[in-house]
Amino acid sequence: MKFFIDTANLADIREAQDMGILDGVTTNPSLMAKEGITGKDNIIAHYKQICEIVEGDVSAEVISTTFDEIIREGEELAELNENIVVKVPMIKDGVKAIKYFTEKGIRTNCTLIFSAGQALLAAKAGATYVSPFVGRLDDISTDGMALIEQIVTIFTNYGYTTEVLAASVRHPMHIIQCAEMGADVMTAPLSVIKALLNHPLTDSGLAKFLADHQKAGVPAK
Ligand code: E4P
Repeated sequence: MKFFIDTANLADIREAQDMGILDGVTTNPSLMAKEGITGKDNIIAHYKQICEIVEGDVSAEVISTTFDEIIREGEELAELNENIVVKVPMIKDGVKAIKYFTEKGIRTNCTLIFSAGQALLAAKAGATYVSPFVGRLDDISTDGMALIEQIVTIFTNYGYTTEVLAASVRHPMHIIQCAEMGADVMTAPLSVIKALLNHPLTDSGLAKFLADHQKAGVPAK
């Protein structure tokens, strides 16, 4: 399973890249705003900086909601770097734009997926990725992980090459369940990715190893 980081924070992206486990980045307008990145020139410069840090795919989301505007904005974003994936919302004009981009060889990530039917439409239009939002479904008492399982089954049934990118991942168990269900990618904040490192037996085991080593008379480094 590919690990993407869900942020526009350059320090977090660098830290995940330095860990050696990063396969890509997802951003959205809220994440860009959180970092104070506003105005077209700053947004473009920021995407370029992200692409310099990471070797994998970088999802850059369009703000437009009409076909012509989505195309204009998406083509401009795709020009920035070969790793840019144009993130398009799950609306009718978005589906039409995904079809257009697919025919032009521009890769897409269909975002704001909350049902299997939406994922199926995006796959039929040729989306490179679909992004079902697990955490936001959980927030309204609906099983987000069940949607991941359903989409994986449907795409497998028909051999769709569209990758299932589990988004809105909120805690480490979401990541484990994504892996069990066969999601192709998951995207999460750095804190959630780093939470996978933790186990109390690792901490106590390491403390004991180091203490025993010191007792044996060899100074610990
Ligand atoms: C990713 O592509 C989405 O924009 C993101 O995962 C949404 O996460 P949130 O529900 O935590 O905002």
